[in-house]
Amino acid sequence: MARVILGVTGGIAAYKACELCRLLAKAGHEVTPVLTADAERFVTAHTFEALARRESPRELYPHLLEADLLVVAPLSANTLAKLAQGIADNVLTQTALAFRGRVLVAPAMNVRMWEHPATQANAALLTERGVELIGPEEGELAEGETGLGRMTEPEEIFTRCRVLLGDGGPLRGRHVLVSAGGTREPIDAVRFVGNRSSGRMGVAVAEEARRRGASVTLLAANLGVRVPPGIDVVQTPTAGDMAREALARRNETDVVVMTAAVADYRPAEAEEGKRPKSEDDWTVRLEPTQDILRELGESRSNGQILVGFAADTGDAGLVRARAKLERKRADLIVFNDIARAGIGFDAADNEVVLISRDGERAVPRSRKEAIAAVVLDAVEDLL
Ligand SMILES: Cc1cc2nc3c(=O)[nH]c(=O)nc-3n(C[C@H](O)[C@H](O)[C@H](O)COP(=O)(O)O)c2cc1C
Repeated sequence: MARVILGVTGGIAAYKACELCRLLAKAGHEVTPVLTADAERFVTAHTFEALARRESPRELYPHLLEADLLVVAPLSANTLAKLAQGIADNVLTQTALAFRGRVLVAPAMNVRMWEHPATQANAALLTERGVELIGPEEGELAEGETGLGRMTEPEEIFTRCRVLLGDGGPLRGRHVLVSAGGTREPIDAVRFVGNRSSGRMGVAVAEEARRRGASVTLLAANLGVRVPPGIDVVQTPTAGDMAREALARRNETDVVVMTAAVADYRPAEAEEGKRPKSEDDWTVRLEPTQDILRELGESRSNGQILVGFAADTGDAGLVRARAKLERKRADLIVFNDIARAGIGFDAADNEVVLISRDGERAVPRSRKEAIAAVVLDAVEDLL
């Protein structure tokens, strides 16, 4: 059972939110309906209270902050704009601003309101911040027009809620450990040896695993991207931090996906303060770091799935990635050719080859989110 806040705003589709409320309550979730004043022009709070099979708690605000999911359906153009701008002028918008969990919204409005650049910009802003939009759908609208603007059907919103709540996803009950980003190995107090990894690929894997119901821990090394809510983040800025945190969790993890660009070498000695500028040469001796993937491969417990990423160049890189599968005792190596422009490091797209003992599969250039889905499909097959 999860705690769900159901926000309802003033649109003609508000009546459909009654069905969503019923489905959530029937599935055993504790639903707290929060209607805007304009929503109450279409439907009554009493209806929702009856469908949720409970009265709204007297101390509403603390209760709202502890919920697992905020779903707003329908979401009016007006409240969409407020959420994007951080306006908090009613209980629903105040809750949304204070809430730190997952947020799912189902916009519903006239096609011209939806297509207006202001609404589009507001919707893009919400997506960028990790709010998930479902719909709107194409179809007949209340005013007799057709176009994009219909609220997604309550059953479909309910299905999405279940996945977001980890209720019924294929990785439900599984613990997934993902590493992301690029480590920075200190040379002195301000300088470091690093790499250009943004962490996008790892965050996409973590997010997709969470969508599929897994509980996800992300070992984060200097990420250049935001991590969506619902993922347990552990900061691991150096290769040493990453090794310590990964190995400490090896026995409680069903799936390990190491996407981070972990330094292979680090300065043997880091100077304490900032080394002052001088005319002399400065030689820094590098020493190898701990091989995390290999140690995980050597010590893993029964049934654990181990996935490594190999960022390398050309055909020789692919050959090295194949060898890595055996050497590290991994189940899957995801090879990406970092010599190619527009993919891989610090890019939105990737193009990879999945290498497992069952064979190889080339995945054409796609968004990292799509690559993450392919990788987790392969993990599910291995599980
Ligand atoms: C009959 C009627 C239907 C409406 N339908 C919608 C709608 O589907 N989507 C929308 O964004 N606004 C719709 N509106 C306008 C909103 O009710 C209005 O913008 C209101 O301020 C929304 O307030 P709220 O976001 O606080 O609920 C409708 C208004 C009326 C009178």
